[in-house]
Amino acid sequence: MSLFDVYPIYNITPVKALGAKVWDDEGQEYLDFYGGHGVISIGHSHPAYVKAISEQVGKIGFYSNSIQNPLQESLGTKLTQLSGYPDYSLFLCNSGAEANENALKLASFHTGKKKVIAFKKSFHGRTSAAVAATDNPSIIAPINAGHEVVFLPLNDVIAFQSEIEKGDTCAVIIEGIQGVGGLDEGTTEFFQAIEKACKINNVVLILDEIQSGYGRSGKFFAHQYHDIKPDIIAMAKGMGNGFPIGGILISPAFKASHSLLGTTFGGNHLACAAALSVLEIIEKENLIANVNAISSYFKELAAQIPHVKKVKGRGLMLGLEFDFEISELRKALIYNEHIFTGSASQKKLLRILPPLSITKEDVDHFFAGLKKALETVAIEAPI
Ligand SMILES: Cc1ncc(COP(=O)(O)O)c(C=O)c1O
Repeated sequence: MSLFDVYPIYNITPVKALGAKVWDDEGQEYLDFYGGHGVISIGHSHPAYVKAISEQVGKIGFYSNSIQNPLQESLGTKLTQLSGYPDYSLFLCNSGAEANENALKLASFHTGKKKVIAFKKSFHGRTSAAVAATDNPSIIAPINAGHEVVFLPLNDVIAFQSEIEKGDTCAVIIEGIQGVGGLDEGTTEFFQAIEKACKINNVVLILDEIQSGYGRSGKFFAHQYHDIKPDIIAMAKGMGNGFPIGGILISPAFKASHSLLGTTFGGNHLACAAALSVLEIIEKENLIANVNAISSYFKELAAQIPHVKKVKGRGLMLGLEFDFEISELRKALIYNEHIFTGSASQKKLLRILPPLSITKEDVDHFFAGLKKALETVAIEAPI
């Protein structure tokens, strides 16, 4: 073992993928309802995306941020238009944690303060300030624990107001829909109360849309269900369909200055070509409309499964809450039915994060497999 063994892994070796299908090294086909952890947005190996990346690497794959890179401008223009934030500016980096790290840093520079308000069961990444704002003590090393972070319950307006009114907060960071935590989300009333209190108290509102963004929720960003406008929006996962890229959209209220933020790899030519191609495909193939249509169909079929007690989430960021812990079911799905799904910190929740391009036939395939898998796992809970 030469790899540092930090991931519990399934004994499967994917070697090829297309759309919502993945094949292993023995030729076995799998249905991908996990999207490599919510990353695959436009579908695996989309031909236009493959062409865009291949052509770009044949020209120039990388140069540093010390030169003109018109691909960054094109990506910024397309992204701000499609997302409904035409007056926001874009800073590019390489991952979700890095997007949140930069968002928190910018908030702290902007306000001159350092306390962060985050929420119970939040996940914002594994680096310095991002992990400190993550509600999971087991991944916070002593070196990360120096940050001042207060974790509040979601949807408790009174607790939120009394914390923010103390006057020492630089940022509030909240997921559009919680991912790892188990698909809980703020109510519209709560999001609007947060937005208002942030404005009154001069606190930066950061929306972590790393998982819930890029159309996955059925709107470009999940917070757009609540008629609010955050100061900074963090993105990654679906942005590059697997090519590592992250970014933050920044309100015009922030003033940029040279060296305020920076990165070597962020915004390189190849990453921009990938991200631009993702946006073009989302637009051309009407993928957000597809998310909404397929989501309704999925929920209809889920309602017919007696062991499913609740369907959580929105769009194609969904969770099936069973009346038993799902780890054996997930194994049966992957090894017997050849269907990838995800888990959450809530042990009865099966997470569904497929490519945004899936069809009704894919959903039928999933439920046929789910029914068979349910027959094979021993379930003690009464229906
Ligand atoms: C909501 C959210 N924020 C941040 C991250 C961290 O992203 P990355 O793993 O790219 O650093 C994740 C990853 O799962 C996430 O779901």
